[in-house]
Amino acid sequence: MNGNDIRERFLTFFQRHDHIIAASSSLVPRNDPTLLFTNAGMNQFKGAFLGEERPLWPRVVSAQKCVRAGGKHNDLENVGRTARHHTFFEMLGNFSFADYFKERAIPLAWEFVTQDLALPVERLLVTVYASDDEAYEIWHTVVGLPKEKIIRIDSNDNFWSMGPVGPCGPCSEIFYDHGPHIAGGPPGSADADGDRFVEIWNLVFMQFDRRADGSMMPLPQPCIDTGAGLERLTAILQGKSNNFDTDLFQPLIRETARLAAVDAEHGEHMVSLRVVADHMRAISFLIADGVLPSNEGRGYVLRRIMRRAMRHGRMLGLTEPFLVHLVPVICQMMGNFYPELTAQSKVLVPVIENEERRFAATLDSGLKILEEAVARLPAAGQLDGLTLFTLYDTYGFPIDLTADIVRDRGIDLDMDGFNQLMAEQRQRARAAWVGSGDEKVAAVFHQLREQVGASEFLGYETEQAQGVIQAIVVNGVAVERLQVGEEGMVIVNQTPFYAESGGQVGDSGMLRKQSGESALFAVRDTRKPVSDLLAHYGALQEGMLQVGDPVLMQVDGARRQSIRLHHSATHLLHHALRQVVGDHVKQAGSLVGPQRLRFDFTHFSALSAEALAEVERQCNAAILANVAQSTLIMTPAAAVAAGAVALFGEKYGDEVRVVQIGSSMELCGGTHVERSGDIGLLRIVSEGAVAAGVRRIEAVCGALARESYREESMVLREAAGMLKSRPDQVTQAVERLLERIRTLEGSLEKAKAAVAGSVLDGLVAQSRMVAGVRLLAARVVGVEVRDLREMVDRLKERFGSAVIVLGMSEGEKVSVIAGVTTDLHVRFKAGELIGFVAGRVGGKGGGRPDMAMGGGSRPEQLAEALAAVAEWMEEKAA
Ligand code: SER
Repeated sequence: MNGNDIRERFLTFFQRHDHIIAASSSLVPRNDPTLLFTNAGMNQFKGAFLGEERPLWPRVVSAQKCVRAGGKHNDLENVGRTARHHTFFEMLGNFSFADYFKERAIPLAWEFVTQDLALPVERLLVTVYASDDEAYEIWHTVVGLPKEKIIRIDSNDNFWSMGPVGPCGPCSEIFYDHGPHIAGGPPGSADADGDRFVEIWNLVFMQFDRRADGSMMPLPQPCIDTGAGLERLTAILQGKSNNFDTDLFQPLIRETARLAAVDAEHGEHMVSLRVVADHMRAISFLIADGVLPSNEGRGYVLRRIMRRAMRHGRMLGLTEPFLVHLVPVICQMMGNFYPELTAQSKVLVPVIENEERRFAATLDSGLKILEEAVARLPAAGQLDGLTLFTLYDTYGFPIDLTADIVRDRGIDLDMDGFNQLMAEQRQRARAAWVGSGDEKVAAVFHQLREQVGASEFLGYETEQAQGVIQAIVVNGVAVERLQVGEEGMVIVNQTPFYAESGGQVGDSGMLRKQSGESALFAVRDTRKPVSDLLAHYGALQEGMLQVGDPVLMQVDGARRQSIRLHHSATHLLHHALRQVVGDHVKQAGSLVGPQRLRFDFTHFSALSAEALAEVERQCNAAILANVAQSTLIMTPAAAVAAGAVALFGEKYGDEVRVVQIGSSMELCGGTHVERSGDIGLLRIVSEGAVAAGVRRIEAVCGALARESYREESMVLREAAGMLKSRPDQVTQAVERLLERIRTLEGSLEKAKAAVAGSVLDGLVAQSRMVAGVRLLAARVVGVEVRDLREMVDRLKERFGSAVIVLGMSEGEKVSVIAGVTTDLHVRFKAGELIGFVAGRVGGKGGGRPDMAMGGGSRPEQLAEALAAVAEWMEEKAA
């Protein structure tokens, strides 16, 4: 039976006994902020054990990917040195949620081990928690094990807990005796740590919830959680006393040995071959689950594992990237049961190779420095802090890698000195930050970043996660708690909320307190006050929140989805613009929101209607093609070499995400749709200039695009209705309408001219001779003030020589105008005349000798004022 068969057999055995097969959950826990990595089969069911979630099924069986490297359960140090410790392993388990308990769990396990796997009974023995008489009785009377085969253990070994808090309970373990040729004693004995007696199955009788204060609360219902290591079972069934000799590791070991041209079965290289095989499994599964090597959190644990593997590769003589060549081997071994491995192999290859190349550059020089420092030490000496720090800081040696290298030489590490230098370096980095002048970020955020570390972004994979509040900031000051109604920023150790960057707006949603009294924080926006510190901005709507509170974080999913469409559409638009307008098109800014996208690009003239239509058509063709979006992670240089469009002036880290949708390929940290078809539809709504040489296109996508078409078509239909026409004939109808307006305007002009002519005639008739000069001083009605000038000009023409004063009133407002033909200017000036007339209607006026205007506020005086003009002329003439 190979490893895959045993896994299969376990699952089908429990399936026969009414269990539902659950898929392995991700190695990055989605529902538990207290965990670094998924470390047991029961993790994904924590809520069901605690009674917080209703289990979907009462009985479940699974094969779960686990990593125990860092955190409470950490096996990293032991790997390669024992027969049975691994960073990555698979845990087979059956679970009962308030269904069966010990009375069924024990006989089921026994039946599987002794019948389905046919392990010899004489090789098996079990342990129970010292005070658990019930389990003891079941093993003795129901299963029929003799008393000397049931060992009571009075220690934590038989009380299992997931972590410092969470579900826990007494347990009973099944052991296999490899026989006296292997060193080691039975459980509970002094040499129990040897490899002779191996625990193969742990049956946990979940009964309590351990709280942060150490108290043990009984669970609402007792439950069952069992865990059997697939690697150990496989070793036993394949007649091996060392897990690494099974088919779960051998293909990796043999391929590594082949690459290094060393003996795969004997000799000095065994430890290194085993470490590489073990670590390769952890590396591949972690990366496949979205962890990337970095200097923080999970990413750093991965980096440590990778670098440890590489160092062992060096010990095998492998100086070129070799882990990357193991990717096909592991995909071949495990890709069937864990399809994510094959699906992510495109990511695995560049990430692993990049990390290998990066570390290779410094590994040899670092090792040399280390060896020299060690050589200078007296026996049992202490390696100084400066060497440790230099190895870490300049040569990329994680401290546990250095520890691992000198481990067997009785050398001590000056950790105090190392920590002191690390603290000083952080201090320097902080000073450099403040002085960088870029964007002046409040010192409080730099301090917080120092104190609480980077926030981990989970939002590529999920919109919901749990986390623990690390800091709260109100009005720029770090505080302990937020009260109801208060506005503030909340920083959590990990978050699914996308923080505004790369043009994509920040997510909004809810944070909900998870224990004790309820509290609700409405997230309005998410931003990065410093590069990897993600802050949720909003207001506390309910309850009270404080630092240390666990919270459930829920992104507004509909909004995020709409942002995704617009972001992916922006990439398609960028690509189409380069196709249609030319390669000179460069992104000059973008805004991706839930309602629309805005894309600025360099180009010197307006896009023609045809060009715009073609851009829109190409985008929609890519949408209809419904191509899958894929994201690769690589170095910026590799990305650009692969043809990805990088944005000038952007700062990229060591690794970049390259988003590919159809023929568009861009460096991008944003969130995207799975397939281009998800965008549905793209509609360009405007194109215009924003600055010299920069154009802006705005577009809407998905349901919004459809809605915008629908609204427009409704307007069109309404317009057609008003025109008594049909939508497809609206333009003709409008043309007819315009034609008619032109005709009517022509007729109106004519009519107006005719009216004006007769008005002039009437005025001319009112003129008389005063002081030998023709005078017209008259009130006009039915004309606009703006027409007065023209009337005066016409009258001047008609008379040839005259003094003309026209007045009109509209409500309280009086307007007067005076005109004098040039020949009369020596005696009469229009400007003076209008001063005289306006003065009499309670206002003033002035102007040139030939034409002047004025106004007043006493319409009742207008007639008298006009009549007085004759006297004024006579006086002037005298
Ligand atoms: N949770 C227990 C363990 O990890 C049994 O599954 O050993």
